[in-house]
Amino acid sequence: MARFSITTAIDYTNGVIHIGHAYQKIVADVLYRFHKQVGDEAYFLTGTDEHGITNAQAAAKEGLEPRQFVDKISSLDKKEIESIGINPDRFIRTTDEDHKKIVAEFYMKSFNNGDIYKGSYEGLYCAGCESYKTLSELVDGACPLHPTRTIEKISEENYFFRWSKYKDFLRELIDTNPNFIQPEQRRKDMIGFLDSGLEDIAISRPKQKLSWGIPVPNDDSHVIYVWFDALINYVTGLKDMWPASLHLVGKDITRWHTLLWPAMLKSAGYEIPRAVYSHGFMNLNGQKISKSLGNVISPSELASRYGSDATRYYFFRYGPWVEDVDVSLEKIDAAYQSDLANGLGNLASRLTTMAEKEGLTGLNKDLVTVSDEYKDYMTELKIVEATESTWSKIKDCDRTINETELWKKTGEEKETTLNKLLNTLLVIANETKPILPISSQKIIDAITGEKIVKIEPLFPRI
Ligand code: ME8
Ligand code: MG
Repeated sequence: MARFSITTAIDYTNGVIHIGHAYQKIVADVLYRFHKQVGDEAYFLTGTDEHGITNAQAAAKEGLEPRQFVDKISSLDKKEIESIGINPDRFIRTTDEDHKKIVAEFYMKSFNNGDIYKGSYEGLYCAGCESYKTLSELVDGACPLHPTRTIEKISEENYFFRWSKYKDFLRELIDTNPNFIQPEQRRKDMIGFLDSGLEDIAISRPKQKLSWGIPVPNDDSHVIYVWFDALINYVTGLKDMWPASLHLVGKDITRWHTLLWPAMLKSAGYEIPRAVYSHGFMNLNGQKISKSLGNVISPSELASRYGSDATRYYFFRYGPWVEDVDVSLEKIDAAYQSDLANGLGNLASRLTTMAEKEGLTGLNKDLVTVSDEYKDYMTELKIVEATESTWSKIKDCDRTINETELWKKTGEEKETTLNKLLNTLLVIANETKPILPISSQKIIDAITGEKIVKIEPLFPRI
């Protein structure tokens, strides 16, 4: 039995997540369900990133203590993903006690390996990124990712991690593992970044500047700076399922996951994750979805309009897997109508209606699984190709029904063709199960009972 452990980025708790954050959780959940379905030992980790300046500032704005505030946001985030059928094996919070302990242990391992030293930093800082900036990274004096925030000038003592020491290690890791960073373009970007040189990085902040964090274990006048806390969630959360088979992240945080994280792990003596996949960004009606712009839509709003299954389907199939994409309610409506209502839903209803009329016996569900083509695509993270291959089966079935004018046929000829199509429908339902768990189960139940029964419309008019 193969092991498959998948993680997503953990979301900052300065505000409740929107569909842009949820995209990644949808893909992770589909891959997780797929691996379980094909018999792997699968584990799915997601959660919230709760320390640091942005979270503390958001709490202060509401007049709450950080802990009270992040408790609230974290539980709302969890409800949001539950509304679209996502239930990870663990929903980790960086404020969890076991995580604080693991971070302290990790820090000391790296410290004892000579990789952490005290230095001083003078320069620019973007609280939105929770990261130090160089002038060349700014656009008109602002962070391109957080243009509404002011860049701070800071000068302070910090503990530094000897990132520079790991340059050759990282280069070798990337060169000898072509799948470590995916897709290919991001891999090239990271090689370019690495070749431009690595500088050591501050991993703590003085407590009087930032108290909302995990204390540095051997100097409690400092707290650990967010990335050296956040990344370690994967080790805490996966436990004996470490190393991760796949870290799924957005493109803005590729660098931390592919270059900083392996260096930290090497330093502290842990195994390196197998792969990091970095997806693109989703815009809404042509604008970046952002809490500060106020144009957010939540997973739960979409789920109440389209249902949880259809929401998962739309983003899995049309989300920013490689390139950035623009989404809109019009596009979701159109896909709902064509791919789900007129596609899968209509096929299931046509076939089960005819089968019930003919009094056909149910299929044996243990005999039918997924196609090899689909399985290979899913395993290789070609998720769009996987989905398209399933939908091309739907089209083929429709074509057969229309070309043979099956509804006009009678007797054995009808029964044989119908049975063949129903078997394909069972393959289709197995393949759509990770994406559309509720609807696919309804199809499977309708065609694998004692007698085949007509199915109620799966995707009613909105
Ligand atoms: O970066 N489209 O948290 P975060 C696609 N806490 N993905 C998007 C998106 C959009 N419009 N907006 C956000 C952090 N994301 C850290 C991660 S991991 C150890 C720590 C993605 O709340 C973004 O790329 O800012 C990231 O992967 C995730 O949502 C969380 O973003
Ligand atoms: Mg962000």
